[in-house]
Amino acid sequence: MHILQTVSQIREWRKSAQRVAFVPTMGNLHAGHLQLVREAKKYADKVIVSIFVNPTQFGINEDFSSYPRTEQRDLELLAAENCDAVFLPNVETIYAQNAQTTVSVSQVSQHYCGASRVGHFDGVATVVCKLFNIVQPDVALFGLKDFQQFCVIQTMVRDLHLPVELIGVPTVRDVDGLAMSSRNGYLSETEREIAPTLYQTLQMARDNLLAGQAIVDVENVAITQLTQAGFSVDYFNVARRLDLEMAQQNEPHCIILAAAKLGKTRLIDNLWL
Ligand code: PAF
Repeated sequence: MHILQTVSQIREWRKSAQRVAFVPTMGNLHAGHLQLVREAKKYADKVIVSIFVNPTQFGINEDFSSYPRTEQRDLELLAAENCDAVFLPNVETIYAQNAQTTVSVSQVSQHYCGASRVGHFDGVATVVCKLFNIVQPDVALFGLKDFQQFCVIQTMVRDLHLPVELIGVPTVRDVDGLAMSSRNGYLSETEREIAPTLYQTLQMARDNLLAGQAIVDVENVAITQLTQAGFSVDYFNVARRLDLEMAQQNEPHCIILAAAKLGKTRLIDNLWL
């Protein structure tokens, strides 16, 4: 497995590959990331994973400094998956000292995580655009747990005519339904027991919507259930999958999006309708 740290090393490696599939990550890999790597192999002859904890997508009071950095273990996991190359840039490689350009995707970044994590999606769009320009992949794969992130990246690729095909991969869950996330490791033992309630509440909300209940009632019942279980709910909303605008009653192609804090851990999840 090639370990590449600079743009020129990537450029050189890139010459050896015909079709490249790319999985951008922030490391601390879990089964969800490994599923992306396995899926990536179906689309290209070479798979490259980046590991970069991107400072610009963290708010000032967020967990950038404590975000788990588990490089050695990540490399072992990727080698076991026969990943072809890993890009491990440092901050200076991605953000030159006098860097002046950011990418901002307006409408689709506005609500949900974009409202509570101001600037987060500018950081994501900027780093993903840079990584795409460095790696020049044919295909890039992202987990659909971060559905709003996927929509932001899709919009950026469309608007900037970036020559990359995006593949969204369904969320990988633990046996009790909790969506895999690098932040699950922050949960205490008690919180970990409560955490699957988020997915259970999404399922309950889906059933209530399919039974014809009004969206606003379904959202309110879900927020009450989560609050009673010990979550501090950020949002729980039914939205259109196409543009993440608010869904109308019985509209097709919708998604239920949720984010809630359990102690210090912010969990997000979603369920397609
Ligand atoms: O989903 C993530 O891990 C990050 O937001 C990403 C896409 C790697 C950009 O830093």
